[in-house]
Amino acid sequence: MEAVMARIHLVLVLCVAAAALMASFCAAAGEGAAATAQELRRGFSVTHDQSYSQFQPVLADPTGAFALGFLRVNGTMLDLAVLHLPSAFPLWRAIPDRPAPWSAPASLTFDGGLALTDRAANKVLWSAAAASASAGDRVVLLSTSNLQIQSTSAGVVWQSFDYPSDTIVQGQNFTSAAALFTLDRRFAMRLGSNYFALYIEPPPTSSGGVAAAMYFKRTALEAKAQIVAGGGPTYARVEPDGFLAMYQKEGPPADVLSFDTFNRGVRALRRMTLEPNGNLRAYYWDGTRWALDYTAITETCELPTTCGAYSVCAQPSGGCECLANATDGSGCAAAAPASVRGSLCGTTGGEVGGLYWAVRRQGVEPVNKELLGSEHAASATDCEARCERNCSCWGAVYSNGTGYCYLLDYPAQLLVVGDERKLGYFKVRSLEEAAGRGRSGGGAGGVKAALLTIGVAAVVGAAAFGAYRVWDRRRRTAADARRQLGAVDDGLSPGPYKNLGSFSSVELTNSFRR
Ligand SMILES: *[C@@H]1O[C@H](CO)[C@@H](O)[C@H](O)[C@H]1NC(C)=O
Ligand SMILES: *[C@@H]1O[C@H](CO)[C@@H](O)[C@H](O)[C@H]1NC(C)=O
Ligand SMILES: *[C@@H]1O[C@H](CO)[C@@H](O)[C@H](O)[C@H]1NC(C)=O
Ligand SMILES: *[C@@H]1O[C@H](CO)[C@@H](O)[C@H](O)[C@H]1NC(C)=O
Ligand SMILES: *[C@@H]1O[C@H](CO)[C@@H](O)[C@H](O)[C@H]1NC(C)=O
Repeated sequence: MEAVMARIHLVLVLCVAAAALMASFCAAAGEGAAATAQELRRGFSVTHDQSYSQFQPVLADPTGAFALGFLRVNGTMLDLAVLHLPSAFPLWRAIPDRPAPWSAPASLTFDGGLALTDRAANKVLWSAAAASASAGDRVVLLSTSNLQIQSTSAGVVWQSFDYPSDTIVQGQNFTSAAALFTLDRRFAMRLGSNYFALYIEPPPTSSGGVAAAMYFKRTALEAKAQIVAGGGPTYARVEPDGFLAMYQKEGPPADVLSFDTFNRGVRALRRMTLEPNGNLRAYYWDGTRWALDYTAITETCELPTTCGAYSVCAQPSGGCECLANATDGSGCAAAAPASVRGSLCGTTGGEVGGLYWAVRRQGVEPVNKELLGSEHAASATDCEARCERNCSCWGAVYSNGTGYCYLLDYPAQLLVVGDERKLGYFKVRSLEEAAGRGRSGGGAGGVKAALLTIGVAAVVGAAAFGAYRVWDRRRRTAADARRQLGAVDDGLSPGPYKNLGSFSSVELTNSFRR
């Protein structure tokens, strides 16, 4: 009897929960969005209401597909975002330098400029239009998802399209004044004069001496239009026909990077996102999900998160092995025998960069060697010598076949198993040094179900809310666990470590003792 009652009770709770979720879904898609403001005027202010569990909409676009609002990120933090409501995907995020917790008494105000303020600390967390002299009269969210501050006299004084976070959407001009960053800022996409490229960013803690490592480059083919020197800056844009175009001026593009649906008449919202693993992908919204349409890097070993720093990747399996002997699972920085410790510049003592040791390895090469500078060298010894006492050099690979010497100006990564004529010399950070650094990383995430939760607090009964929270907490715990598995220390450490078994041996050098 008790069991039957319990079951009936459970069914009831589930029904209430389902009804509430459906109600909130409808509210978000229909009246909820309509009730959200379509324009913010000077003097506008809204306070963050913690009873929203994931997203508190503030401003809607005319179609109801997008909203600007307070977004809960990484479980605990507060951000401002423009969400694609059907997917709860943040197309744009403000990303304050010092984010406030979700519980902070924050408010969003518009008084010519847009500002996110922590009222308790009386601190501006983020503001827009700081760079612009003319103040705006209104804030609107266009049906393209572009958030604009407009002035009656000066037109658009600020737009979110000029400050992308990790995503560009169809119709958004991506210029060299902007960059896409993964949310942990380990990877970036930038536009050059006639190309765009993906980079491993130097860790913010590095005191110079580490360059951004380019791991993907697309150069404009210039088939339909030339890029001319002095002809103005280039820009890239995702086009409705399913491609990323590079332009120097409107008209035929200087480059067409086609997606799977190129010219197939698919008319849908498109986006391109620099994803947490460092890959660049394009998607279109097919009405129920983001359908994958383009992937920049398809070879496992060409992705910097496959193996990480100081390790070697075996193609095509993507198995990783540390450059220097052992790993404790936390990375490939390895304990250096006291006898071979040195600094980055080849002298002993505590200057630039701390403790390093040098490792020689035959049969490895940079997978991105086409993107690296190379010089001719007479011998491997000659090639190494150019790197050894150079504080901004982290490694040299000599090709005994061609006589090319490739110099790495970032900690050894993106290395693959190559032929035996490739002779590598690498400076590996000593484990003691690595251990001294804190772990960071993570990212946003935790928003996938935000749509379901919009307005939940407003409509839901206590029982259903409890049921939802259990589900939400489980989901977030799972997401946090996934994030932590992929966690990294400072941009130099590896992705999941997969032991390869051993291949060629490691030879220690004693060069620092000379
Ligand atoms: C993109 O750039 C072109 C050329 O400068 C310009 O005409 C267009 O308005 C820009 N689009 C947006 C959304 O800023
Ligand atoms: C490599 O690892 C093995 C086993 O852990 C150890 O005996 C050996 O001394 C290590 N070699 C170096 C150069 O660190
Ligand atoms: C030091 O190494 C960097 C990176 O490989 C290289 O660009 C630079 O030219 C080198 N400097 C000298 C003086 O050789
Ligand atoms: C490099 O090439 C030279 C000439 O072909 C050869 O004598 C030498 O053994 C090679 N060195 C290595 C380490 O393969
Ligand atoms: C995300 O949360 C984890 C733990 O909850 C934290 O360690 C990490 O720094 C956070 N990441 C960001 C970007 O805030």
